[in-house]
Amino acid sequence: MLTLSNIQKSFDNQVALDIPHLNITGQQTTILIGPSGCGKSTLLKMINGLIKPDQGEVLFKQGKINTQNINLLRRQMGYVIQEGGLFPHLSARDNIMLMPRHIKLAPDTAEQRLQSLAELTQLDAGQLKRFPSQLSGGQRQRVALMRALILDPDLLLLDEPLGALDPMIRFEMQSQLKSIFQKLGKTVLMVTHDLNEAGFFGDHLVLLRSGKIVQQGTARQLIENPNEPFVEQFINAQRAPSIIAR
Ligand SMILES: Nc1ncnc2c1ncn2[C@@H]1O[C@H](COP(=O)(O)OP(=O)(O)OP(=O)(O)O)[C@@H](O)[C@H]1O
Ligand SMILES: [Mg+2]
Repeated sequence: MLTLSNIQKSFDNQVALDIPHLNITGQQTTILIGPSGCGKSTLLKMINGLIKPDQGEVLFKQGKINTQNINLLRRQMGYVIQEGGLFPHLSARDNIMLMPRHIKLAPDTAEQRLQSLAELTQLDAGQLKRFPSQLSGGQRQRVALMRALILDPDLLLLDEPLGALDPMIRFEMQSQLKSIFQKLGKTVLMVTHDLNEAGFFGDHLVLLRSGKIVQQGTARQLIENPNEPFVEQFINAQRAPSIIAR
């Protein structure tokens, strides 16, 4: 679904990403984890074409992403940016419906999708009429998720999409999203700080440090066979003994 090869990206001579090779398998969930500043958001932005690599290429469905094709390709990618990224002057509903209108999706189809996503995210019609500033952080995050899912994209790029949710809604959304991803065969690349969440969602975890991949594998592999002390330290710092149980 997605292949990164020979990726190099620096900001002000500081290496932000240095990834010789990374394959994101279709129809499974890959989790990006790692300390703050290790390059997780930069990686998602690069796949979405917001940041260009200094070197290397990103292949999406075998084709190289470039400035000519990125607008069309973006319609096949749902993206929730770390801060939500809703337009402040549009209601929640209009934020969600912006792209369906832009690509002239049949209004009935768009409305049906909106209704089922509103059910998933537990947002009601009154809340969807409000502007982002009139919603709570968790509600905004759920609107951003609805917006990312409304075109029914093959690939979802999710940058800490559940971070602002209270534990009960978060737990419920984790279960529902996981079953949606599986049922619809979505390819998901998700950033989370929560190793428990990573283990719950992720078929495959990619641990980054200072822009480089330190280790990839299942949560169990990272826990049981850390390939360097940093992996163990990262996992221990999270103190998440229930990962394997879930
Ligand atoms: N536009 C930019 N200009 C300069 N430096 C940048 C820019 N964007 C990101 N960086 C730097 O690149 C590095 C990686 O940033 P990135 O946002 O990808 O980290 P992250 O892993 O998402 O961190 P967090 O967990 O805190 O969200 C950081 O050191 C950051 O300061
Ligand atoms: Mg980030």
